Amino acid sequence: MFSAGNLNKFQQTETPFYYYNLDLLKDTLQACKDASQKYGYHVHYAMKANFNPKVLQTIQSYGFGADCVSGNEVKAAIEYGFGKDRVVFAGVGKSDKEINTALDLDIFCFNVESVQELLVINDLAGAKGKTARVAIRINPNVDAHTHHYITTGLEENKFGVNVWQLPDVADTLRNCNNLELTGIHFHIGSQITDMEAFRSLCVRVNELHEWFVQRGFNIKVLNVGGGLGVNYYSPDHDNIADFESYFKVFNDFLEVKPGQEVHFELGRALVAQCASLIARVLYVKNGLKKNFLVLDAGMTELIRPMLYQAYHQIENISQSSDNRQQTIDIKYDVVGPICESTDCFRKDVDLPESFRGDLIAVRTAGAYGEVMASHYNLRDQVQSIYSE
Ligand code: LLP
Repeated sequence: MFSAGNLNKFQQTETPFYYYNLDLLKDTLQACKDASQKYGYHVHYAMKANFNPKVLQTIQSYGFGADCVSGNEVKAAIEYGFGKDRVVFAGVGKSDKEINTALDLDIFCFNVESVQELLVINDLAGAKGKTARVAIRINPNVDAHTHHYITTGLEENKFGVNVWQLPDVADTLRNCNNLELTGIHFHIGSQITDMEAFRSLCVRVNELHEWFVQRGFNIKVLNVGGGLGVNYYSPDHDNIADFESYFKVFNDFLEVKPGQEVHFELGRALVAQCASLIARVLYVKNGLKKNFLVLDAGMTELIRPMLYQAYHQIENISQSSDNRQQTIDIKYDVVGPICESTDCFRKDVDLPESFRGDLIAVRTAGAYGEVMASHYNLRDQVQSIYSE
């Protein structure tokens, strides 16, 4: 829902752009903080979801840690003030250069995804006379029931160490003098709204945790990853993720030993609802069977619909219910300007009759939106404006 003031501002701004509602971001961060602090949980923000400078500054100011997946993200997290003792570095393909960067910056922990990676980190840390703190990312083989492109916790996925490889991991940890095991790490997928998936994760974590304890390892941190989903269908009425229920599942089912910390890596749930992509209708094409709205934004600005068949609410904010001429909706295929047939936000979208110059909002675009933008077709870098 956009105010008249917003619309005025949008009309004077060159499209396309991302509009960030920083007040909603702050309310979301506060809700997450309140719900997690109840149980003493530590939340790291999964920076990959959105590294827009203002978003990062705001999130950092609420005291969250950072979950990074590249050397550049590690550097940015520290530059933006996320304390190095609250920075973790995950990723299935960390390069030597990236590992060295993270060692030099003395981050809290590497989330390690293979035995070979353990050996490489051990060597690189040894060369610097350092000890690297590591957590083992274990593939729990839990089905998150989410889109297959964003599920990560199954044995068929490339992520993490499989359970049958754990004896090898344990031997490697014992033989590597430059590694210190801090904990175990899991992440089963993204946009998960069924709390049952997280309950299954807890059961699996309990078993695997016990496996390490029985072999004499001191597990200080249980890192259960991220993945909490948001409501893409109702961005105005359900605009803050259900953090209460989410953390409660872990409190109810995760077995935590005295002195242990529980860490989370939330991305989408913190930032998805705070931004919309605002575009303008360039052309209205009325065909015999189809009507097209051709926007000035496409897969180069927001690729989620094209890559994951993701649903985003699409609204014509110039023809809102107050000032529209007629009340009957028309079905439009809402498409972008890119020379690819897949460059379509959605087919058969019911919208009021729309005209060249109308403003279109693609909602819930704060997570994996701006950060996945590209220059394909030599397009301009998408701009951002803020509610302040
Ligand atoms: N931790 C790890 C190890 C991850 O791989 C991810 C996301 C997260 C945490 C944060 O997950 P979240 O809380 O945001 O669900 N581009 C896709 C999503 C890819 C998610 C990648 N990993 C999309 O637009 O849906």
